[in-house]
Amino acid sequence: MTEPLENKKIVLGVSGSISCYKSIDLASRLVKAGALVDVVLSDAAQEFITPLAFQSITHRNVISNLFEYSSENPLEHITLAREADVIVLAPATANSIAKLANGFADNAISAICMATTAPILIAPAMDGNMYHNKAVQKNIDLLIEHGVHFVGPNAGRLASGLIGLGRLVEPEIITEHIKIVLGLTGDLKGMQIVVSAGGTQEAIDPVRVITNRSSGKMGYAIAEAARDRGGEVTLVTASSLPEPPGIKCLHVMSVAEMREAVLDSCNGADALIMAAAVSDYRPAEIANQKIKKKKGEENNISLDLVKNDDFFLEVPSGVMRIGFAAETEDLLSNAEIKLNSKGLSFIAANDVTQPDSGFNVDTNRVTLIDNNGKVEALPLLSKYEVGNSILDKMLQMSK
Ligand code: CTP
Repeated sequence: MTEPLENKKIVLGVSGSISCYKSIDLASRLVKAGALVDVVLSDAAQEFITPLAFQSITHRNVISNLFEYSSENPLEHITLAREADVIVLAPATANSIAKLANGFADNAISAICMATTAPILIAPAMDGNMYHNKAVQKNIDLLIEHGVHFVGPNAGRLASGLIGLGRLVEPEIITEHIKIVLGLTGDLKGMQIVVSAGGTQEAIDPVRVITNRSSGKMGYAIAEAARDRGGEVTLVTASSLPEPPGIKCLHVMSVAEMREAVLDSCNGADALIMAAAVSDYRPAEIANQKIKKKKGEENNISLDLVKNDDFFLEVPSGVMRIGFAAETEDLLSNAEIKLNSKGLSFIAANDVTQPDSGFNVDTNRVTLIDNNGKVEALPLLSKYEVGNSILDKMLQMSK
């Protein structure tokens, strides 16, 4: 599977709010992600922004008037409605939300929304009082009841200068929500997947920790890939990367915290994918106060460490267990030992000495080894694609 927006047909409806300048950024992100973006502008949107601005980015016709027929396709709005994978209204004003909720089709955006069976995602933007208006809230409730998806609005400074709820959600977050909506009917629909990410931290004193170089990128990429295929994902994370939308995130620091969060989340789960780099040892005691530097001749100090138990073995047997082996030598033999000793269905082995498959990069080169002895070396891929390969294997092995 390639990137989730690759070749997806997205109709982007833009209505008249000052925040519509952000739709240009949104259109640009979607195009860069490989989507085919057809922009439809309301008359009010064109008071703020021109069709040319969007056309320059999408390189496709921009619909600015329902009655502007092209000779090749006089029913362009119906074609768009029929062929769209998803319709996104960003920004959606109180007026455009009212039209949709009440079945109006008097401009191109509302006509397309009426004529489609594709999922619709709405990102509202309006003044705070307007957003809280009972009529607007009633229209939103009605649309949610009809299966329309919403993202935002955010709270913050509004165009009026007031602080309130009504800001358009940032384009990168809208993009994530488009992936979520597109993935709702994916092949992981109905599955609960637990993913761990990041490097655990074991406190030495209130200031210092023992940790490792894991950034969390691999675990986050797996979690996002599973979410984009319709999975219900819990991410147990020791990383400080931003929380991905649409994923339940449980933040932990130590191995004990990670163990508790992972085992709790595994209740009723279908699979556990342990991408976290878990500390093997922790200080025998955590000092209450910052440990001070030794004065005088005494230069060395030592730290007494105790072993952390491997909690893979405590995971209920109905949960498929998938592990990682980040190695610096004897990659395959070390990974096989872990596969067998931890009771895993399969393991993803990666050589972290390579610059393109180590810590804190966006690519990885892994070899999947399963408990039937099958070894599959994957090429260099983005971590998101590695995530998808792991999920493909998980599905194959769960059949
Ligand atoms: N793991 C775990 N609990 C631990 C330690 C590791 O669940 N206490 C998981 C990791 O998340 C990973 C797999 O086990 O999926 C292998 O972890 P790794 O650190 O590579 O191996 P270790 O078993 O700790 O062995 P070593 O450190 O000697 O390589």
